[in-house]
Amino acid sequence: MPAPERIPAGPVTDPVTLLAKGDLKVLGQVREASNAVLYCEIASEGETATCVYKPVAGEQPLWDFPDGNLARREVAAYEISEATGWGLIPPTVLRDGPYGEGMCQLWIEGDPEAGGALLALVEDEEAADGWKPVVLAEVEEGRTALLVHADDARLRRLAVLDAVINNGDRKGGHLLPSGDGHLYGIDHGVSFHVEDKLRTLLWGWAGEPLTPEALDVLEELSARLADGTPLATRMAELITPAELAALRERVAALRTSGVHPAPSGQWPAIPWPPV
Ligand SMILES: Nc1ncnc2c1ncn2[C@@H]1O[C@H](COP(=O)(O)OP(=O)(O)O)[C@@H](O)[C@H]1O
Ligand SMILES: [Mg+2]
Repeated sequence: MPAPERIPAGPVTDPVTLLAKGDLKVLGQVREASNAVLYCEIASEGETATCVYKPVAGEQPLWDFPDGNLARREVAAYEISEATGWGLIPPTVLRDGPYGEGMCQLWIEGDPEAGGALLALVEDEEAADGWKPVVLAEVEEGRTALLVHADDARLRRLAVLDAVINNGDRKGGHLLPSGDGHLYGIDHGVSFHVEDKLRTLLWGWAGEPLTPEALDVLEELSARLADGTPLATRMAELITPAELAALRERVAALRTSGVHPAPSGQWPAIPWPPV
């Protein structure tokens, strides 16, 4: 990313308030993005951080998703991540900015070293210890390789979150391991569809029992999404009534089945390109 300058991340006491109330200054644009993704500085009362600002006006229309809602769905995904207590999505708010309403999300300085250990393409037919197989892919004429992801507790939580939010785009580039060992997921604009759109690289646990921790989290989430709760009220501002109903149904279905969802087709639905 060709940032004009890098601002050292200072200790931010309350990132959500800073993102919501701070002065937003656009520093550059993330070039490889498919929508307008602006790299910004956010500052308030002596505190400074960097963030992305994705204005609704810069969203590309999608044939299979309602237009003009990517920013809201990103905020909705953050609200659900917070409700799980797993903190898998960087602080994200909906606010006004120089190009109108959009989402602002704290910039996470990814650690490429850590990223290398999450996904791999291997020549073997089976995943090695500590790895989970995703799909056998033809990498070139007549040569196949096995796509694997790490058997990592953070990824496993993310797989549960993705099943809950019905994430249509969990690719490698949307996994941001930060230097402190934390793993974040980004880019949740194509989530919360009423139909099954789960498209992910994290199929390694498909059909396996959910962890007791995940079941507890889903129980809590179910209670917190009940009619009239603060979370349900907030979600109703961000997604449609049908999408909220579908969200509740997915949480209920996961609790009933007790297992990680499996691909519905013969081939696992993986995002393209997968990185
Ligand atoms: N919160 C963030 N922290 C760090 N980098 C980010 C963040 N959000 C986006 N990026 C960077 O910007 C790129 C494009 O953002 P993304 O959310 O994937 O947008 P798009 O909707 O265009 O796919 C990402 O691949 C990533 O490199
Ligand atoms: Mg993206």
